[in-house]
Amino acid sequence: MHENISALIEKLLPPNVAGMLRNSGLAGAHNGLSVYLVGGMVRDLLLGRLNLDLDLVVEGSAAEFAEALKAAYGGKPLCQSQFGTSKLDWDGIKVDVASARRETYARPGALPAVSPGDLKSDLFRRDFTINTMAVNLLPENYGLLIDMYGGKQDLEAGLIRVLHDKSFIDDPTRIWRAVKYEQRLDFQIEPHTLALLANALPTLDAVSGDRIRHELEKVLEEELPEKALCRASGLGVLQKIHPALTADEWLARSFRMMRASSHPEVHVKQAYLCLLVYRLSARQMAEFAGSLNLPTAWRQMLFDVAALKTIFDVLGYPALRPGQIYSILESYDKTALQAVMVVAPNDVVRERIALFLNKLSGVKPLLTGHDLLLMGVARGVKIGQIIEELRQARLDGRVNTRDDEVSLVTALLAR
Ligand code: CTP
Repeated sequence: MHENISALIEKLLPPNVAGMLRNSGLAGAHNGLSVYLVGGMVRDLLLGRLNLDLDLVVEGSAAEFAEALKAAYGGKPLCQSQFGTSKLDWDGIKVDVASARRETYARPGALPAVSPGDLKSDLFRRDFTINTMAVNLLPENYGLLIDMYGGKQDLEAGLIRVLHDKSFIDDPTRIWRAVKYEQRLDFQIEPHTLALLANALPTLDAVSGDRIRHELEKVLEEELPEKALCRASGLGVLQKIHPALTADEWLARSFRMMRASSHPEVHVKQAYLCLLVYRLSARQMAEFAGSLNLPTAWRQMLFDVAALKTIFDVLGYPALRPGQIYSILESYDKTALQAVMVVAPNDVVRERIALFLNKLSGVKPLLTGHDLLLMGVARGVKIGQIIEELRQARLDGRVNTRDDEVSLVTALLAR
């Protein structure tokens, strides 16, 4: 008996999203194309979790279907790729449309070769059974659940299971995905799948740094990334990125403190990365950055973490004035500072980084460069020097008003 989940769709999804699903089915029917909702949204509907990423699979041309959908119901096409996928923005709802396809892998870690297929082969190419369920959207069968690979049963049992024994070899990034889903959903990786995963660990070496970084970023975007990282550490997956990495109770506690103390300007995902590498040496951090092919800004952030670890003595010096704290810290990346603040070894250092982030870094003189020009300061480096003098004076409480600043500039010019 096929289960129909249309009532669940109406109950869990916002009306505009549910409407979009019905309209997709109508557009498919008008154009003689079968259309299905697939992937994470189906899984999450059955789990009662809200997920608004609409992934549609069409038996036939996705581009033709996306055009028909747009012609009938509007929406902005976002992009089309060579794999026959289209993205549409429909009143803020992002819809991915793909042609049903099969995939074959020439070697581990390589991207798959893609050829047209039907729904069954499209579902078979996927990572885990819980991600292989689909929902028919055609009006006459609207809401019928299609479960060809035992996804519902594994969902109910809380199991992450691959579809075939070569799954991790074909695509080693699934090792990270297995850990991510297991920890996100509080599931278990099924024992045979776990054995396959352990055997496939060496294949991670063949995957590009960019692809591993992508998976790591996805983990760091999870609500509680420390869970997946600790599991990955226990399985030896994390150490495939760098052998010195470890995720443990220290890291979990640091992540929790990070979330509790986070400053609005700080990117939490990047701050997690800083904490993950915090216990590595500067050299190991550089190796880590190289193995993941990190973008330049992220590398700089990690180098700043390494550098900050070397200045705790200076920063802990008893009689530092606010202006001196500012001068010591101003050139460091804010996210690196935020992360280091969470784990710095003593209260004085932590308090001074917090003071810098929350207060000192935003202090600037009331007088601008333009004001200084009007006061007769010559164009050039002098302007910058005076602005810095004014900032220092303001930080240390030697000037408080605009008049104080004018007096200070006058005195500096007279000198
Ligand atoms: N997929 C896969 N192997 C990968 C990446 C993705 O088989 N290495 C499949 C999965 O079955 C997944 C679908 O492609 O359902 C879409 O992938 P992705 O966008 O990463 O997953 P979502 O389900 O959209 O997101 P999530 O599961 O994280 O909620």
